Amino acid sequence: MDGSKKSEEVEEVASRRVWRSLAVVFVVAVIAVPFALINSSFSMLGHGTDETLHTLLRVSALLGFSFLFLQIVTGAFRPALRRVFKPRTLYRAHTAFGLAGLAFIVCHFVFLIPSLGEHWAKLNHGFFVLGPIMLFVLLLTISTALVLRKLLPGAWNRLHILNYVVFTVAAIHALGIGTQTTMLATRLIFAAYLMAAVAGLAYRASSPSWRSKFLPAPVRMRAPRG
Ligand code: HEM
Repeated sequence: MDGSKKSEEVEEVASRRVWRSLAVVFVVAVIAVPFALINSSFSMLGHGTDETLHTLLRVSALLGFSFLFLQIVTGAFRPALRRVFKPRTLYRAHTAFGLAGLAFIVCHFVFLIPSLGEHWAKLNHGFFVLGPIMLFVLLLTISTALVLRKLLPGAWNRLHILNYVVFTVAAIHALGIGTQTTMLATRLIFAAYLMAAVAGLAYRASSPSWRSKFLPAPVRMRAPRG
């Protein structure tokens, strides 16, 4: 191997390492956001069951939303991320983010159960019901991805695109009835996440091979005889 090729390789390995470190910092920052946003409410933990449960239901909601965001990003930008990470690592991270998101959303619901009636009475019912509906759709997209991926690849792909809908509608649910989402900082972060999700979808849709998974096969025209 000649010197210039070797130095090119060394440079590539170094740049991959930099990108990987940046990606890890990004993931840690996204997971830290809910704690930073809800920081002042942590003093409420231990101040009575109601306050504790309310804080926990909000932290788990924001963490669930953050993990869903990481799931969307690792799914949408997979082709670009493959230049830096191994496909297997990416798949594992994507699955782990989705499952963590689902687990936190289930906790969000469980912590809400004792005050369900009280919340239902005082909040907008339209925004409220979007939560349970999205939880149901999320269960559907994640379970089909885990079970049907190999059995029914076409059906699985079409269902999995619903994750973009879950993410967007969950944001509407949170902005409509959340406590923390009245803060400007939370709104700005939600807006940035939504824009990244739209960019991710546009990036994916720009690939003809990805589009072909969802669109019916083009009708081939037969050349007229004679
Ligand atoms: C994919 C599913 C869901 C996601 C991603 C989600 C996410 C969120 C987020 C981020 C908030 C804002 C928290 C805050 O501002 O402090 C929120 C608030 C809320 N969610 Fe959900 N949620 C989901 C499902 C549910 C379900 C299943 C229910 C109830 C059956 C529910 C009921 C509520 C209520 C009552 C609030 C207002 C809490 C408050 O601040 O007082 N959500 N949700």
